[in-house]
Amino acid sequence: MKLCIIGTGYVGLVSGTCFSDLGNKVICVDTDKDKIKKLNSGIIPIYEPGLEELVKKNFSQKRLSFSTNISEAIKKSNIIFICVGTPTIKKSNKADLKYVFQVANTIKKNINNYKVIVNKSTVPITTGDKIEKILKKKNKNKSFDVVSNPEFLREGEAIRDFIYPDRVVVGTNSKKANRIMKSLYLPIIKKVSRYFHTSRRGAELIKYASNAFLATKISFINELANLCEKTSIDIKNVSLGMGLDQRIGERFLRAGPAYGGSCFPKDTRALVQTAENFKINLSIVKNVIKSNEKRKHLLINRIREILENKIKNKKITFLGVTFKPNTDDMREASSLAMIPYLSKKGAHVRYYDPTGEKKYLNKLKNVKFYNNINSACKKSDLIVIHTEWNEFKQLNFKKLVGKKYFKIYDLRNIYSPIKMFKNKINYFGIGR
Ligand code: UGA
Repeated sequence: MKLCIIGTGYVGLVSGTCFSDLGNKVICVDTDKDKIKKLNSGIIPIYEPGLEELVKKNFSQKRLSFSTNISEAIKKSNIIFICVGTPTIKKSNKADLKYVFQVANTIKKNINNYKVIVNKSTVPITTGDKIEKILKKKNKNKSFDVVSNPEFLREGEAIRDFIYPDRVVVGTNSKKANRIMKSLYLPIIKKVSRYFHTSRRGAELIKYASNAFLATKISFINELANLCEKTSIDIKNVSLGMGLDQRIGERFLRAGPAYGGSCFPKDTRALVQTAENFKINLSIVKNVIKSNEKRKHLLINRIREILENKIKNKKITFLGVTFKPNTDDMREASSLAMIPYLSKKGAHVRYYDPTGEKKYLNKLKNVKFYNNINSACKKSDLIVIHTEWNEFKQLNFKKLVGKKYFKIYDLRNIYSPIKMFKNKINYFGIGR
């Protein structure tokens, strides 16, 4: 099939590349000339394991191409994917749909034969209806169908999630569009995944509801972790014990810092806002948002307690600063709440992250990036394990720090408190 992917951000680039790997002819387009130039010379603008190899392979086999000529790409394709950003509008909770509607207007001008227009951007309920309205203005003899096909890709695991999804959700009332979408996804759904066909509005809500539910699971376990800290119970055992019940499931029950990233915080806010437009109060999701915000302050207080209120001049090392491993993404990472506070209180903050220096952090007073774990940890008073990168999982802290008295705050519960105790290391985890 001939596909045009509009928007070469995270979702567009991963989806376009994977579709080309399944044998489709894919043109990825973007208005950003610099990005397209880079992609055409093999430079991948995002950090995603396995993506570079896959782009290069399909590019060289001419199944995948990059262009700024959006009109031509639309005309040449049967299926057009809208994969542009829907950031939160400043000082509001609303998703900004301006890029989605700009794309819809461009498609409107270039429809030359029947097209399936697929929205993959995360959008509030009724956005598909609005896209259809825009397209109908110039194409009264309806030669298109608008479909909702949300993405469920996790950063750092996106290629695996694309090829082996739990489900593919397709929202459309058109039998023709559904048939085309099903055959596009056939190589994937042949394996173990389910193809789930529903209404367009239903698919739009499934996306937000899934992210909000996962955020709820995390906030739930994080709050229970607070209780475990007061009652000498290990939250890891509680997660395992709960997760064994198949109705609950063990995944996304890892207690940690506040959840972050470009999706959960933005999508929970947008869902609450959408519901309010329909005069519905999603009180549970509202409280999840509040609980997650509070958690950032709670972590700061905990560091204060661990350091017995003596933060000034303390050497504090952050291992990992991104919101999760296998990504360079800093959006809504809890480190962005913790490090500025510690810097303000006069601590000497050092940090190491496998994806390198972070511009914003380097602007802060007494905050320094080190390009290796050894120098970052040397003579530290407190090591904060912020992100669970694999390279932090087997460290010999005594050797790394090189002094007798230091503390560890493990925000991802990587290490065993018992082993740390045996090694006479002052260790603090989350909910244990
Ligand atoms: C999330 C969803 O998992 C994807 O299904 C979805 O497609 C994507 O948002 C999106 O809407 O585009 P992502 O934000 O990449 O993916 O990352 P997650 O792996 O979901 O992690 C989000 C946050 O939750 C991270 O800060 C992570 O550390 C935290 N988390 C996750 C926990 O604290 N505990 C857990 O058990 C799991």
